[in-house]
Order: sequence, then C-alpha cells, then structure tokens
Amino acid sequence: MATALDRHIALIGFMGAGKSMLGLQLADRLDRPFLDLDREIERALKRSIPELFQQEGEAGFRVIEAERTLATLRQSRPAVLALGGGAVETRAIRKALREHALTVLLEVEVDEAWERVARTARPLAQDADEFRALYERRRSSYDEAADLRVHDADDVVLAALGIELGGEPEGDALIADERVLQLHPLELGTTHVAGPKTLASAERLWDELRIGRDGTIVGYGGGSTTDLAGFVAAGYMRGVRWISVPTTLVGQVDAGIGGKTGVDLPSGKNLVGAFHYPDRVLIDPSLLDTLPADEHRNGMAEVVKTGLLAGRALWELPQDEMIRACAAFKAAVCLADPYERRGRREILNLGHTFGHALEAASEYRLAHGEAVALGLTAALRVSGLEIPDVLDVQPVRVDRERAWTALQRDKKARDGRIRLVLLEEVGKPVVREAEPTEVRKALDELIAD
Ligand SMILES: NC(=O)c1ccc[n+]([C@@H]2O[C@H](COP(=O)([O-])OP(=O)(O)OC[C@H]3O[C@@H](n4cnc5c(N)ncnc54)[C@H](O)[C@@H]3O)[C@@H](O)[C@H]2O)c1
Ligand SMILES: [Zn+2]
Repeated sequence: MATALDRHIALIGFMGAGKSMLGLQLADRLDRPFLDLDREIERALKRSIPELFQQEGEAGFRVIEAERTLATLRQSRPAVLALGGGAVETRAIRKALREHALTVLLEVEVDEAWERVARTARPLAQDADEFRALYERRRSSYDEAADLRVHDADDVVLAALGIELGGEPEGDALIADERVLQLHPLELGTTHVAGPKTLASAERLWDELRIGRDGTIVGYGGGSTTDLAGFVAAGYMRGVRWISVPTTLVGQVDAGIGGKTGVDLPSGKNLVGAFHYPDRVLIDPSLLDTLPADEHRNGMAEVVKTGLLAGRALWELPQDEMIRACAAFKAAVCLADPYERRGRREILNLGHTFGHALEAASEYRLAHGEAVALGLTAALRVSGLEIPDVLDVQPVRVDRERAWTALQRDKKARDGRIRLVLLEEVGKPVVREAEPTEVRKALDELIAD
C-alpha cells in the first residue's frame, strides 16, 4: 500500500458512519482541503440530493455522482474526500480510487447508523428493513474498495505515511545498528553494519550494496541508523525504496518518521541530507525493552515536546499508546508540510533552539534529551506558561557566552531578533520573534554557575 503523501485520502463507508466529521478533522490536521462529494454535487447542480433522487431516479443520480467523483479524484492537489455511501458500488469509482487515493473505510454498526440517519431527508434511509438490506448489499463493495479500515483520525494519519505498529520488515538489504542486531536478531537479504552517521559510512555502504534499482533497503536501529540508511537509499542509483524500522524511543516517536535523511559532517550535525520518505515505518515498542535508561530519557524529552504541541499529556499514557499518539502527531505535521516548504514543520523545533545552544556549548557532552528538556522549560517560560512536573530539570554547567553565541548563530535568528517556537497555550504553537534580552534571560536560567 503506497503512502498518501501526494495522493488523496478518500473516506468511504455507510451513511451515518461519520465520514464528514472525520474528514473535517483530518483536513484540519493535514492542512488539506476537505471535499464532501454529496455537498459538491448539490452545489454543482444547485439541487439537493433528495431532489436529485426524485427527479433523476437512483440510476440517474449514480451517473452524476460518478462524473463528479471522478473529476474530483483527478484533481492533483491532494485532498481529503468523503464519498457518498453508495459511490463505491460504481465500478469506475472503485477503479479511480485505486489509482488516485488511499481509500479508508470507516465502519459503523447497522443499528448505530440507523439511529443516526433515520428520520432525516436521506432518500435511502426511509425504511428500516430496506436500510438493513442495503447495508448488507454494500459490504462487498466496501471490502473491495478499501485499502484499510479505521476507527479514528490517528489510524488514517499513520496509514497515510505507511506507519504500522507491528508488521514484518521485508527487503533486500538490511542496514543495521550492530548492537540492535545482537540484541534483536533480524535476517533479511544481505546484512550491512550501519556504523556512525557519516559520509564515510554512506560511501562504504554504497560500495557494499548489491541490490538493483527495484531493491528495498531496511534501516534497523535508532535515529542515527535510520537517518543513514535513508540517506544511503536516497543516493543509491539515484534513489531506491526503503523501510524504516526504528528501535529507540527517539526513533519511534520522531526520527524514524518524516522523510528527513542525512549524515553529520565534522563541521556540524545533519549538514548533508535529502528528503526521502520510507515506504513503510514499522514500529515495535517491545524492542525498547533493552533500551538503556539514558536513551529512554532522550526519547521522553521528545514525547513531552509532542505532548506540549498536541495539547495532551501524552507522557502519561501507557507506552504503546504514547508511542502511537506521538508517531501520529509527527506524521500529521509531516503530511501537512512534507518537504519543509510551508512552515508547518517548524513547530517540531519547540525547545530545540535553546537545546541546541546548550548542546553546542557543552561540546555535545550534554545528551540531546536533557538539552531538549531544558529547552522546553525555557520555551514555556518565554511563553508565560506553567512548567509540568515531568520536566524536572536542573540547570547545567556550560559556558554562558558560548551558549549565547551558539543560540544567536542558530538558523532561526534574523535581524538581531530571534525566531522561536513558543506556545500561545499548551496545544497552540506559534512561531514568533522574541526580544534578545528576554531570550538571553531564559537561556541564562538554564545554566548553573
Ligand atoms: N530524521 C529526523 O527527522 C530526526 C529527528 C530527530 C533526531 N534525528 C537523528 O537521530 C539521531 C539520534 O537517534 P537516537 O537517539 O535513536 O540514537 P542512536 O541511533 O544513536 O541510538 C542510541 C543508542 O541506542 C542503541 N540502541 C538502539 N536501539 C536499541 C535497543 N532497542 N536496545 C538497546 N540499545 C539500542 C544504539 O546502539 C545506540 O548506542 C541523531 O543523529 C539525530 O540527528 C533525526
Ligand atoms: Zn530532538
């Protein structure tokens, strides 16, 4: 199943399933237009659906519906579409869906559907027995058309970026973190040790690989490994497919998702890279059982970041739910801004401007997670918000001037003022320029003498 990065997301299901509500929610999260086909048809023909049924008969309506649905599916700007309940009974529509959309079936029990739509003007919801018969009849068309069945918006968002919880990796070459391979053996095609996230590793891997243009690389390890494996896939033969199998908490909630791949240079981190989305991201939280405590803490800092952005205390959820919710949040932001051209992705830097400055000032002895936790504290303070207990951090000993210089050099600084991701309130990120004195004060509070 292909991702929905540049395809429509089409919601199908029986009347009363809640397609419009879910569609609106998805369109908002993914920054895409929402088109409800029944409403589109009513607008285009300036007649209501009950009128059309009455005047054209059901057969006539289906012809009109097919025309409008096909025209909409062929529009290139990816949208979220809600199809009429009976649309998938038309074969041409099923065919166009396969070509142009990730087709998602929103299920509903027949009794619940009847509760919701009985006594409305819907032409096919006038008689309970006929309604039931229709429900039974349409089942097979839904099954045939659907790429997957969903229950909520997170299910759709995850599927739209190929993210699966559980799921077996398949591919032709495995690029793996050596330690992960010892702890969690995996066999698949040829095996290659990833090594550090550097150009030298990439060059060695390109040299070692013996796969063809149609081969698939599997990246198996933490963020360093998936960043490297994805970059190797982006460059090899001008780009081959890859699958991301993150094995750290950082990887499963953040680094393994979102198409950014790359390597570090001696002069700086992540300076060379490419956007190259994996076809699938396979998340198995049970791999984290062997993760050292400090690596777990690194991941929790990103979880807290995500929770503050999402407006939910995601860090309080049981681990599997927490990972799923964080992965879905990151996936939605990436789908809304796949190649970092629309500004939406910027919010993922919450806390990171301060964090990176502390990391640089410590010459990278400070763990990323600790730096981000401190950075989040500063971002909350500048935002004038309370700091949740989960961010229980102590000031660190680094050189104040070096940290300040590093922060100002950060790519977010323009005309002396400093662009920061802040929070209007928890769950409402804003990007705004802050006064240097205010920023300096917040940074200083993170540093111990
Ligand atoms: N692409 C992105 O969008 C993105 C986002 C955030 C971070 N990153 C990158 O991710 C990297 C950091 O990733 P990371 O924090 O996952 O670190 P990592 O990949 O370096 O792994 C950390 C350590 O954990 C070990 N490890 C991995 N999985 C394990 C397991 N299941 N059990 C026991 N040990 C395990 C590794 O051997 C390693 O020693 C950085 O290079 C950063 O730039 C990328
Ligand atoms: Zn981070």
